[in-house]
Amino acid sequence: MLAPVQNQSAPWIATEPDGKEEAINKDAKDGATRHVQWYQPAIKFLPRSTVDFFENYVGVKGKDAITTHIYNVRDMAWQVLPYPCIGLFRFLDFGIHLSPDYPTVVRRVQEGATFLDLGCCFGQDVRKLAYDAGTSFNLIGTDLEEPFLQLGYELFRDRGRCDATFVRGNVFEEDFLEPYRGKINIIYVGSFLHLFNEAQQKKVVRQVNRLLRPQKGSMVFGRHLGAEKGGHFTMKSIGWDLYRHDLQTIADLFQSNGSADGDVQEVKWEVTSSLGRYESANWDDDRRGWQGDETKQMIFTAVRL
Ligand SMILES: C[S@@+](CC[C@H](N)C(=O)[O-])C[C@H]1O[C@@H](n2cnc3c(N)ncnc32)[C@H](O)[C@@H]1O
Repeated sequence: MLAPVQNQSAPWIATEPDGKEEAINKDAKDGATRHVQWYQPAIKFLPRSTVDFFENYVGVKGKDAITTHIYNVRDMAWQVLPYPCIGLFRFLDFGIHLSPDYPTVVRRVQEGATFLDLGCCFGQDVRKLAYDAGTSFNLIGTDLEEPFLQLGYELFRDRGRCDATFVRGNVFEEDFLEPYRGKINIIYVGSFLHLFNEAQQKKVVRQVNRLLRPQKGSMVFGRHLGAEKGGHFTMKSIGWDLYRHDLQTIADLFQSNGSADGDVQEVKWEVTSSLGRYESANWDDDRRGWQGDETKQMIFTAVRL
């Protein structure tokens, strides 16, 4: 199934610089085309830490068995929605641990903090955190797409032995995760905010405010597409209308508390962020053209004061 990510009427625009559009449209009739730059046929490099995780947590032994297992689940997920994070194996980054605040998050979870991964896809970062913290109680993952949550149990083979809660949810629905309101200490948003335009991101911040415990130290952290000069950006390859942040605009987003119509909480934040090269350990570095010029990766943390 091909579908727009942003619930707009425009379909995915699957074009490649080398003009393979005809082949792309033909394949698309049978499902998500693989003739796009953000579908990488094979894993380029599997870091030792990823091999360890699959051998010790998942229970698949040896690089060949691990890659075959990953390809099978990845290709099922690609047919659900052809996200770059799926096509390019970015889920194997376990991006949560790239945050400088990750050790603090692990410690806080060990001490009983409640953690939510918003837009968790397979729940890979929930599993990584559970593995490192030695507990999966108080961990919640949510995603719009129920099939991604189910494929997470396939990828990690932990149905029945993972105590984390996975629940389908749409961040834009008024009653989004209502039972959890005011009960979450830490929210992770990995490759999530950049799916949306500025007005939609403000709505996400409002939902985050509702979910977090209304106390000092509640935090949101994550990563997404950024740029030296933030602002509205159309990613022509995929047809996404999004907002890429710079160091100032990400701070402004949180300080606004999502204000659009005045009905917001007066929350003060300390926001730290950095911009780096947009890359993944396991991807083919030649497949970069789809992102658009000057795209960087932002890592950020917003802590409630
Ligand atoms: C680009 S993926 C990122 C997945 C993962 N967090 C990571 O860091 O790799 C974005 C995820 O957000 C989910 N998503 C998109 N719109 C959503 C919405 N309105 N509410 C909740 N999840 C949503 C998608 O289904 C997808 O799994």
